[in-house]
Amino acid sequence: MEVVIAPAEELARRAAGAVAALLRRKPDAVIGLATGSSPLDVYEELARLHAEEGLSFAQARGFLLDEYVGLPADHPERYRNVIERELASRVGWAPEQVHGPDGLADDLGAACTAYERAIRGAGGIDLQLLGIGTNGHIAFNEPASALASRTRVEALTLQTRRDNARFFGGDVEQVPTLCLTQGLGTILEARRLVMLARGEHKAEAVRQMVEGPVSAMWPATALQHHPHVTVLVDDAAASRLTMADHSRVADRSRLPCADIS
Ligand code: GLP
Repeated sequence: MEVVIAPAEELARRAAGAVAALLRRKPDAVIGLATGSSPLDVYEELARLHAEEGLSFAQARGFLLDEYVGLPADHPERYRNVIERELASRVGWAPEQVHGPDGLADDLGAACTAYERAIRGAGGIDLQLLGIGTNGHIAFNEPASALASRTRVEALTLQTRRDNARFFGGDVEQVPTLCLTQGLGTILEARRLVMLARGEHKAEAVRQMVEGPVSAMWPATALQHHPHVTVLVDDAAASRLTMADHSRVADRSRLPCADIS
């Protein structure tokens, strides 16, 4: 794992830089999209690169990590709509180029199978952006998710619903109880993973992810099995890392050929 500890603006710039470098090298790249607040600055920077430097998404495709079950099609917090608002509409990405699991399907199991097939049909995900929940969830893989899990229906923990209530007017009852999520096994098949985490409230989850034993109780620890992960964290999120000083030295001495700019 490549751990980069830096101020928030630099984290966003680095993550967006990795996406931009990929798109320049491979214009029809498949990008895995995360929601939550962590990637918002990255989407801001990608919108800037599109507007000011002509970064093109014309041939690229996007796949969401997860989706709530049952939110009405026009609900502002439906992840499909969040991505449309925060990224797709700002980088000229047509709706048919961006895919998400269908949280309104009559047959949710079939929707999960179809989603796995769609990712495979696109040639797999080249770069997956990720955030992390305070309980170590990635996408909506809650604690006790199998490390080899695939896209499926999941129940959200009360902690995740409380954490996400801020997007629903602070009312936990408005947060759906079910979701569709790529599994840990699905996420591990992406060719490159870029994880963003900021703030003291993420410090324990980050410690477990980077230094803890691999455990279904901290789903993000599954990332230790992936060969190409970049973890972008601020000082607060890195505050419980025993190896933080080593990471700072390693980042400074990283060769310029490292492909995260
Ligand atoms: C949600 C999303 C996750 C995200 C997590 C953290 O639960 N499903 O993909 O990583 O929130 O969100 P935030 O970045 O807002 O802390």
